[in-house]
Amino acid sequence: MGQNLILNMNDHGFVVCAYNRTTSKVDHFLENEAKGTNIVGAHSVEELCAKLKRPRKVMLLVKAGDAVDNFIDQLLPFLEQGDIIIDGGNSHFPDSIRRTKDLADKGILFVGSGVSGGEEGARYGPSLMPGGNPAAWPAIKPIFQAIAAKAPDGAPCCDWVGETGAGHYVKMVHNGIEYGDMQLICEVYQILGEGLGLSHDEMADIFTEWNKGELDSYLIEITRDILKYKDTDGTPLVTKIRDTAGQKGTGKWTAIDSLDRGIPVTLIGEAVYSRCLSSLKDERVRASKILKGPTNSPKFTGDKKAFIAQLGQALYAAKIVSYAQGYMLMRQAAKDYGWNLNYAGIALMWRGGCIIRSAFLGKIRDAYTTNPELENLLFDPFFQEATAKAQDAWRTVVAQAVTVGIPTPAMSTALNFYDGLRHEMLPANLLQAQRDYFGAHTYELLSAPGKFVHTNWTGTGGNITATTYDA
Ligand code: 6PG
Repeated sequence: MGQNLILNMNDHGFVVCAYNRTTSKVDHFLENEAKGTNIVGAHSVEELCAKLKRPRKVMLLVKAGDAVDNFIDQLLPFLEQGDIIIDGGNSHFPDSIRRTKDLADKGILFVGSGVSGGEEGARYGPSLMPGGNPAAWPAIKPIFQAIAAKAPDGAPCCDWVGETGAGHYVKMVHNGIEYGDMQLICEVYQILGEGLGLSHDEMADIFTEWNKGELDSYLIEITRDILKYKDTDGTPLVTKIRDTAGQKGTGKWTAIDSLDRGIPVTLIGEAVYSRCLSSLKDERVRASKILKGPTNSPKFTGDKKAFIAQLGQALYAAKIVSYAQGYMLMRQAAKDYGWNLNYAGIALMWRGGCIIRSAFLGKIRDAYTTNPELENLLFDPFFQEATAKAQDAWRTVVAQAVTVGIPTPAMSTALNFYDGLRHEMLPANLLQAQRDYFGAHTYELLSAPGKFVHTNWTGTGGNITATTYDA
């Protein structure tokens, strides 16, 4: 990743100094990939800092966590006031908040930048989400915007996100959404295979078609290619891969953060839990032998073509809900931290270069450009109409999957969220009554919000109330 970013910067006319603590890697890079370029190397942190123009701009691409702090500690003796440290790893945003503050106290400008797009993105145009100390932005803007991917209209997929941990926060939500998109596609894959009995080539054809319309996205595109890919014996390689999902933690951070902020980001939560369930392979193998499924056949028997069209609609609608939830979370975090997030700008940053890049993000950008204060993405007229149009198909798909016993945790939680959100009245009135009944936790009347009262429901519970507070 680091090497590719350096080569990308070199392509755009910037002179870069490469450093790795394993110095032989620097030499190998200079003698091979970087041969004939303007890239220079350093064998020590001191040499690296001595070679950089002031203000120095040092970009770290190391494992999130202690490694970042250790590297910063090594750099500090050789840096001067006004120099810039950029952390381009997948750091947890509270660390970036802390580092921005601690380094500002030392006169160093810290930037925590999300970098998305994998190896190829780094080489030819990643999506970059920089945040931290805004005083650093004018110095790094020309480099970042030059090397970033470009949206179809030519705009760079990189802009200043906000102060302190905002860049890494937005990258965290990006990754959470990435988990959600991937899980939704995997649910569709299981329905197409287990439910409809389609071959991998037939599935690849469906993804090829979907990639020409509203679902056009990088993840749909690579899924098509994966489904087509054959092992040396001619069978689709994907069928030989052990069904236990790995995770490096950014999706989990998003889900935990949503719980902390009280924002129902249910689809990402289900995507994380689905990876956890997949990892319980041995237990699932045992369960598969003893737990009964529905008496109906797990095969779908209706009009396959019509059902596949409904599946595409269900995928699209669930995806809209997932992005709506992600934006709800960013909105709340922006309030909590005083960040002035540009929601249209974030959609543009995700429009190209990153893993969740899609045509659909152009519509999100339009929604927030028209109304930067949009309360919920689902309230935007385009998305209102899109979900209204897709919802019957979505309900059919979820109902069918439930009937034949194929799990659709992300797709169905999205539908439940949609139905919950559109209900003026939820059964939480009963829940409040229950809490008050057994614990005197009090409740508000619809006619007097903000005024907490208690009822002595049994006549023996007393009139003393518990303290009223919300966690
Ligand atoms: C990106 C990706 C990347 C992420 C990997 C692996 O934007 O380029 O989000 O940052 O680390 O996709 O993530 P998991 O191991 O958690 O799936």
